[in-house]
Amino acid sequence: MDGTSRKRAVAAGASTVPLDPEALAEQAAADLPPGPRAYLVGGAETEQTIRDNRRAFDRWRIRPRVLRDTSTRDHQVTVGDQRLTHPLVCAPIGMQSLYDDEGEVATARAAGRTGTALCLSTVSSASLEAVARAQDEAADGAAVRWFQVYWSGREVTASLVRRAEAAGYSALVLTVDTPVTGWRVRELESGYAPLDHGHGLGTYAADPVVRERAGGTDDEAVASVVSDCLGDASLDWDDVAWLRERTDLPLYLKGVMHPDDARRAADAADGVVVSNHGGRQVDGELAALEALGPVAREVGGSVPVLFDSGVRTGADVFRALALGADAVLLGRPYCYGLTLAGADGVADVLRNLRAAFDLTLELSGYPTASALDGNAVVRAGD
Ligand SMILES: Cc1cc2nc3c(=O)[nH]c(=O)nc-3n(C[C@H](O)[C@H](O)[C@H](O)COP(=O)(O)O)c2cc1C
Repeated sequence: MDGTSRKRAVAAGASTVPLDPEALAEQAAADLPPGPRAYLVGGAETEQTIRDNRRAFDRWRIRPRVLRDTSTRDHQVTVGDQRLTHPLVCAPIGMQSLYDDEGEVATARAAGRTGTALCLSTVSSASLEAVARAQDEAADGAAVRWFQVYWSGREVTASLVRRAEAAGYSALVLTVDTPVTGWRVRELESGYAPLDHGHGLGTYAADPVVRERAGGTDDEAVASVVSDCLGDASLDWDDVAWLRERTDLPLYLKGVMHPDDARRAADAADGVVVSNHGGRQVDGELAALEALGPVAREVGGSVPVLFDSGVRTGADVFRALALGADAVLLGRPYCYGLTLAGADGVADVLRNLRAAFDLTLELSGYPTASALDGNAVVRAGD
């Protein structure tokens, strides 16, 4: 990113969305009806883990270096054998028609325009094929996209994977921390169940196996097939082995927090995403950033280590990379952008965050994103 585009990104009034992450979240929340707001903003039980995800970043401080030429910066990172133009990836967030009529198609356009890799949720409102087309049309060059898999039984899962391969998704991200949904008080109290309102069925409704089971594409019949096959707490390492045998795509496990699981995942799969699902699953669970270092020490360098949960600022991206992440998934903030200004809002959230990250690299004396390591940060108080 050159200085001119950075200045353009941050010039007052040039952004369709607030630059301050809290103002971004507040404005988007104020714009949403209660049900969708509860779904996007909320987390498990007391939401302690949501708060801890943020506090964990406060415990790590950047230790800048000086007098190193940072006049040009290189944002590229490598994940497995894939080169990303910068370390941000849109995290899989389901049911985006809750935030914008075009949902994931708008997000895909923004990802394409900004050269951002996209990880599409299984429970997308648009089909995985429509999302792929939108990203390709908007991209100036090759677009990187991954498909997030919610286990949906073997037959449906295999069918989704075949379609993702055909549509140019270049990795699978199997989410292993959500065999069932957490106890999300705001969602429960709002009484709002997005699946029942037809959100999140785009990819399933276009699936031949699902259609056959549903006897067609009727929304209610599809929703009933989906609720029968989605969510299975018996999911285990045998299912991971089964899935891995069915595809040549790299398989990353999302929701790995324990170094022992990471060690096993490095054999059973091709990489991990350190994540606590943005504090939506187990309240009182440790902050994702606290889990990152131990996981990276266990398997970093041998398989890709990705990270999400709580990333809001350029300095957060810097700290996560320094603590061992190869790339960082951005979650709620881009959906706040989607809520406020559709594809332009998502693109601006991504551009603003990347500009802030770029400045952090420049001012901290680290011109190369992929070269960040533990020397760049210290534990506060140490
Ligand atoms: C509204 C919402 C929906 C989500 N849907 C999915 C999903 O479909 N699949 C998935 O693996 N993770 C899903 N996640 C988790 C995100 O991928 C990511 O782990 C989380 O948003 C990171 O936390 P943060 O947004 O606080 O940074 C969802 C998160 C939110 C907030």
